[in-house]
Amino acid sequence: MDSQHAAERALILRTELERHNALYYQQATPEISDVQFDALLRELQEIEKAHPELLTPDSPTQRVGGAPLDGFSQITHSVRMMSLDNTYSEGEMRDFFTKLQKGLGKETVRCIIEPKVDGVAVAVRYENGILKYAATRGDGRVGDDVTQNLKTIRTLPLKLPAHLPQTFEVRGEVYMTRAGFDQMNREREEAGEPLYANPRNTTAGSLKQLDPRETAKRPLSVIFYGVGDLGEAKLSSHAEIHRLLKDAGLPMAAHVWVCDTADEVIEAIRDLDVKRKSLPYDTDGAVLKVDSFTEQRDLGETSKAPRWAIAYKYAPEQAETRLLAVDIQVGRTGALTPVARLEPVFLSGSTVSNATLHNFEEIERKDIRVGDFVIIEKAGEIIPAVVSVNKDKRTGGELPVPIPTACPICGTAVTKDESQVALRCPNPDCSEQVKRRIEHFTSRGAMDIRGLGEQVVAQLVDAKLIHNVCDLYDLNELSLAKLERQGTKSIENLLKGVQESKQQPPWRLVFGLGILHVGVSSARSLMEHFGSVDALGKAETEDLLKVQDIGSIVAQSVHDWFREERNLMLLSRLRSAGLLFANPIIEQASNKFAGSTWVITGTLSQGREEIADIIRANGGKVSSSVSAKTSYLLAGEEAGSKLEKATKLKVKVLNEADFRAMLS
Ligand code: IVH
Repeated sequence: MDSQHAAERALILRTELERHNALYYQQATPEISDVQFDALLRELQEIEKAHPELLTPDSPTQRVGGAPLDGFSQITHSVRMMSLDNTYSEGEMRDFFTKLQKGLGKETVRCIIEPKVDGVAVAVRYENGILKYAATRGDGRVGDDVTQNLKTIRTLPLKLPAHLPQTFEVRGEVYMTRAGFDQMNREREEAGEPLYANPRNTTAGSLKQLDPRETAKRPLSVIFYGVGDLGEAKLSSHAEIHRLLKDAGLPMAAHVWVCDTADEVIEAIRDLDVKRKSLPYDTDGAVLKVDSFTEQRDLGETSKAPRWAIAYKYAPEQAETRLLAVDIQVGRTGALTPVARLEPVFLSGSTVSNATLHNFEEIERKDIRVGDFVIIEKAGEIIPAVVSVNKDKRTGGELPVPIPTACPICGTAVTKDESQVALRCPNPDCSEQVKRRIEHFTSRGAMDIRGLGEQVVAQLVDAKLIHNVCDLYDLNELSLAKLERQGTKSIENLLKGVQESKQQPPWRLVFGLGILHVGVSSARSLMEHFGSVDALGKAETEDLLKVQDIGSIVAQSVHDWFREERNLMLLSRLRSAGLLFANPIIEQASNKFAGSTWVITGTLSQGREEIADIIRANGGKVSSSVSAKTSYLLAGEEAGSKLEKATKLKVKVLNEADFRAMLS
């Protein structure tokens, strides 16, 4: 491609990609599938690689993360990033309002109330309409340049609409939605990685990532609530800031309140307390800001915070209850986690009888003893955490929590992991670890063996019928007859499930093996790239790093797993049992479905992902949601809302038999 042609094509691709990005992330009305989007993006990446002079800072390719940095450079804030003073009661808020009235010498003061987003502050500067940089707060004067990381946030415009001021700096908060955070933790759990404690700290950690490709994987979002350097923006009130944000397509809070009196302020913060529970992100308070810039200037500021704004902090919901015991859970990888067993207590809408104690160091630091009355709190965490001890209630009979020196299950001496915080049982034959590994292997996301839930796995391991996942394939009626409480029918189903699992695609096997840090999506990428378990096993770290979305931690972990004798023995037994070790060649590959878009729903005879592979192999596209553009809905049993939507939109609905008929 000559450079003239390349420049034209790059411009078209960029415009299209940003348009689809906005359709997807701002309007939630995508017109193309993720696969099509990726294809356009890849085409643009190729052009930019061949013609580096065409790469612009507002190119959508910049959102997927460039090369890792050695360290962050520093950015000096042109206007200092201040923090806010806090209040903790309605009385203090009224006092603050009185100060405003006195300071300005008037009865009513126009104020704006906004949610206080629990995230990490950033400043984002646009120059000549293009995103120039993003910086953290740092010490308020100088922060880290986190431009590459911020660009991975898809709702952040890289370019401003032409009719607006083109140079100004906005300020806001980077956060993670609770849903995104939970999903990420579920994936980590599946991959056997330690869970993150809360969205805020995880957000902070994600911004500090030197490898923007890692940041791109985190579900970060941003909300803006102010300006720093006004630049070309001629504004005179906070309400006008909101207007500018809105016009520029910069994400902002869904609810704001305008108040003139103390009563209205109180009403607004109460209303926000109700509304914030259904916001997708965590908020820890309300922020009051005087609207007029002239009045803001008149009120002035202290050395650390403005006198024209204040935060009102909502109390996190807490409860006090007795700590009955500290149990130790042994995870799949041997990590020992202390769990508090509590006298049941009602907190934020549910009865709580367990809470996390994170790790043993924390128990020591907080001096938590069995028998103590402890304060528990739900503050963005998935399960409640023990925050402190009510030492006034101590009677002297409380017992310190012993730090285990041996695994509570198998008695092996514990080791500390690399971070020197988590304790680990290093014995791979520890029966708890064995159970967790087998549960993982049989779970829905992995080999999906029905009839092999937690209880049955425990029974099988305790009865010494199985010691590892290979033993599952040696089970038969005779051995299973030894199990208690299992009828012939359930034994039959179990054996059938085990047999059928042999045909599962090998990415499920790779995921099911429980290699540290390997989740579903890594397993899929690895198998897509290598095609067979053998090729994967032979791959050196540098080969693994060539796979899309595989970073150095996963690569090292996979490499090491395949170099361990006991794992190789396990694989060789699984191979003899007849499991699929190489991607099946889809025999019916054709162009039959070219130009058609499919949505798959309900229960079918094969996994939806496998059916999607067949559709793609025959030229079709697969999308996750039904729209007027959908050509066919393939509906299995128990199809739900997608079927309804398809019927409404008059999309052709096929059952599995129709689909197979079309294929053959
Ligand atoms: S205004 C000079 N508005 O809370 C005014 N801050 O505790 C500075 N924050 O550093 C901040 N939501 O990181 C403002 N709607 C909001 C906010 C907000 C969250 C954060 C911000 C600030 C911290 C102060």
